Amino acid sequence: MTKNIAVIRGDGIGPEIVAEALKVLDKVGEIFGHTFNYTDVDMGGCAIDKYGDPLPESELQKCLKSDSVLLGAVGGEKWNNVPGDKRPEKGLLRLRAGMGVYSNNRPAKIWKQLSDASPLRKEIVEKGIDFIIVRELIGGIYFGEHKTVDDTATDVLSYSESEIERIGRIGFETARKRNKKLCSVEKSNVLDSSRLWKKVMHRLAEEYTDVELSDMLVDNCAMQIVKNPAQFDVIVTENMFGDILSDEASMITGSIGMIPSSSLGATSCGLYEPIHGSAPDIAGKNIANPIGTILSAAMMLRYSFDMGKEADAIENAVSAFLDADLRTADIMSEGKTQVGCSECGEFIAKNLKRE
Ligand code: IPM
Ligand code: MG
Repeated sequence: MTKNIAVIRGDGIGPEIVAEALKVLDKVGEIFGHTFNYTDVDMGGCAIDKYGDPLPESELQKCLKSDSVLLGAVGGEKWNNVPGDKRPEKGLLRLRAGMGVYSNNRPAKIWKQLSDASPLRKEIVEKGIDFIIVRELIGGIYFGEHKTVDDTATDVLSYSESEIERIGRIGFETARKRNKKLCSVEKSNVLDSSRLWKKVMHRLAEEYTDVELSDMLVDNCAMQIVKNPAQFDVIVTENMFGDILSDEASMITGSIGMIPSSSLGATSCGLYEPIHGSAPDIAGKNIANPIGTILSAAMMLRYSFDMGKEADAIENAVSAFLDADLRTADIMSEGKTQVGCSECGEFIAKNLKRE
């Protein structure tokens, strides 16, 4: 198969981690007989420097014409004083909205080799950590009106029934393919948008009778994720709650550097990115962990290109890296050998096998 991939290297550690993911994709192509063509797209701080715009229309078009988009990370201190609507992150939000990728899937799964890296107590980790956060990605407070007038700043949070319903369905469908437990997270004791959220979820539950739906307030959910993560199978939530909870969920699995994500809408053209940021403090030092990006590439193969075996091969090679007691700095522990970003990518590419 031939696939055209738009590649956004971005800022900070972005270029380094994406380079490793491309090494791995090239190797997948070689052993499974696929051709991956890459088109570089400028987005984020680097696009501000080049064009004065974090995502010029021409760059967005390249993404829309591709079969899928692989993204490293964007942003950095250098652009902190740029006005809100021109910040690097705005490029990312425009990309997500432009592609219509409303459904963001963020797995929180602990690799058995990394159970020591979790900050949680052993007896909690041993009960198992394996859940998915389905985050609404192109609505809510991120996309409401933002304004500052005199000494008052306002951000509007609004959701329509149809926006809630389409992400709710993804939540139910995801749970249906797993352990059939869906937890809908909101703040319905305070927010109107959350009361609507809850109402729509319960209406959908009548259609998905094989899935057990529960409700949880977001503050309680933040607590439950560290107290008893084994209780979760699939969590579905709105944009900002999902942003916050997915950082928390990633940390209990050992490192945010390990977690990939997929974002999909109505078509198979998806956006794949690690959930961490651009980490400018460690950029260019060859110490970043490329695994979140490499696993994002695996998700692209699985969900957008229907290449399940190829995705399995990447995940097995990541497991082989951990089995070899090799670690990047963020997951380093006693008795293991620390390697750099490029050595990590090379090992994974070299250890890819066609079963
Ligand atoms: C994420 C990031 C982004 C978000 C930022 C960079 C805009 O934190 O993907 O989780 O808040 O969605
Ligand atoms: Mg985030």
